[in-house]
Amino acid sequence: MNDISKSFSGVKVLDKVSLKIKPGEVHALMGENGAGKSTLMKILMGIYKSDSGSILLNGEAINITSPKDAISKGISMIHQELNPVLDMEVSENIFVGRELLKTGFEKLKIVDKSAMREETAKLFQSMNISINPKSITRRLSVAEMQLVEIVKAISLKSNIIIMDEPTSAITEKEVDVLFTQIEQLKNKGVAIIYISHKMDEIFKIADSITVLRDGVLAGTGDSKDFTRDKLISLMVGREIKEVYPKENAEIKETLLEIQDLCRGKRVNHVSFQLHSGEVLGIAGLVGSGRSELVETIFGIQPAVSGRILVKGKEVRIKHPKEAIAHKMAMITEDRKRTGLNLKSTVEQNISLVSIRKLAKYGIIDKKKEGTAAEQYIESLKIKTHSKKTPVISLSGGNQQKVVLAKWLLDEPEIIIFDEPTRGIDVGAKRDIYTLIGKLAKQGKGILVISSEMPEVMGISDRILVMSEGTIAGELKRDEFTQEAIMNFASARGGKII
Ligand SMILES: Nc1ncnc2c1ncn2[C@@H]1O[C@H](COP(=O)(O)OP(=O)(O)OP(=O)(O)O)[C@@H](O)[C@H]1O
Ligand SMILES: [Mg+2]
Repeated sequence: MNDISKSFSGVKVLDKVSLKIKPGEVHALMGENGAGKSTLMKILMGIYKSDSGSILLNGEAINITSPKDAISKGISMIHQELNPVLDMEVSENIFVGRELLKTGFEKLKIVDKSAMREETAKLFQSMNISINPKSITRRLSVAEMQLVEIVKAISLKSNIIIMDEPTSAITEKEVDVLFTQIEQLKNKGVAIIYISHKMDEIFKIADSITVLRDGVLAGTGDSKDFTRDKLISLMVGREIKEVYPKENAEIKETLLEIQDLCRGKRVNHVSFQLHSGEVLGIAGLVGSGRSELVETIFGIQPAVSGRILVKGKEVRIKHPKEAIAHKMAMITEDRKRTGLNLKSTVEQNISLVSIRKLAKYGIIDKKKEGTAAEQYIESLKIKTHSKKTPVISLSGGNQQKVVLAKWLLDEPEIIIFDEPTRGIDVGAKRDIYTLIGKLAKQGKGILVISSEMPEVMGISDRILVMSEGTIAGELKRDEFTQEAIMNFASARGGKII
């Protein structure tokens, strides 16, 4: 890609960016949230048209007019924002746009469902993934959907595969599955463009690296020639140390107590306490019941039995609005489905939970709403053209910050974070860790689910490890090691999906 430029409504988001990819290499594309990574890749995929610049494939100038066109030219993409058709079954999603037809009936275009299921099963088997090809996609977890997207892109047999944050929702074991696949693809000469905010991954698999900063090429070269610090300073334009700014807040009274909570197999007799000033991590493999547990506490899927006590008093939570009334907040893992109203503006999304407080006699005080939004845009450094920008046009990481702002504005006391830094760059991650520390210092109780071991170990005071719907173990800060967590996580035969 040569000198690619692109503006959205007059704002330049890519300025003469060039990118060179060789066969058989993993080329990492790095940069802060909003740097322009996804936009550059969407141009390569024919989703957006560049304003200027050219694309050459094997030395020949080409014009990519649509994703279908890109695929026919041997380019496919795993999207950052997952886009499966939720009401179709898994196998139909894998073969969407290139459905297998019944042999002998090609002219009639009769889709061969069982052949597609069979092929999907084979693909899954070859990659050690045990998802049922017949499952309705809606029923899958975010991690499972991400795996389906990965399998789909690989099965297209492209020469160039773009992976836009492919591991944002999956756990370490599944990442290994993906990396094995990447290794095999490389051996076949397939080039991979790999976008991730996870430094460890980059240094593990990237052969070369290109860094974007604010839509401009900040650096490119062999990954051997980059150190972590160099990479970070290229991305953010300043030095940031990649450590966890853990502050020790005073841990005080019990804010939340869970007693023998049950809901089906995934929430199985769970008991624990969360204290004021405490950051309590919840670790575990995908499918261990972490999200289900917090969804039960928050009333999204109410408990079947057990008790929830807030500040020592038993409460009834059958719906999120009851949880909110008890000063709880929950930042869900899937911002697109459950965190945001994508078509509304940044401002409207931020005020969503606190709308009553911002209104007088049932009418929203626009000025108050605007001021609140501006405050959070500034304090969380949300990169947006204005507060009136539709949230859908923000980069992934900045959308996540809008979700945070929405909840913080409501001034909750018990805050549940489900994968809080999914898709967030190093600088912003640090901001969020600092924020979590600050909230703890203010006496709030914080529950954090995280699949990233260094993260959960870096920010928690205590970690509960879940396996098969129950708490398999508890670790205090001085007992944290990756091994100890993994041991508990697989204690009850936890397996990859
Ligand atoms: N469809 C769009 N309309 C308007 N602005 C857009 C659109 N898509 C992206 N942008 C803007 O372009 C800039 C680059 O966004 P992009 O999604 O490429 O960032 P990114 O590097 O992928 O970030 P992230 O790491 O958060 O995913 C952002 O400022 C974003 O708000
Ligand atoms: Mg992106």
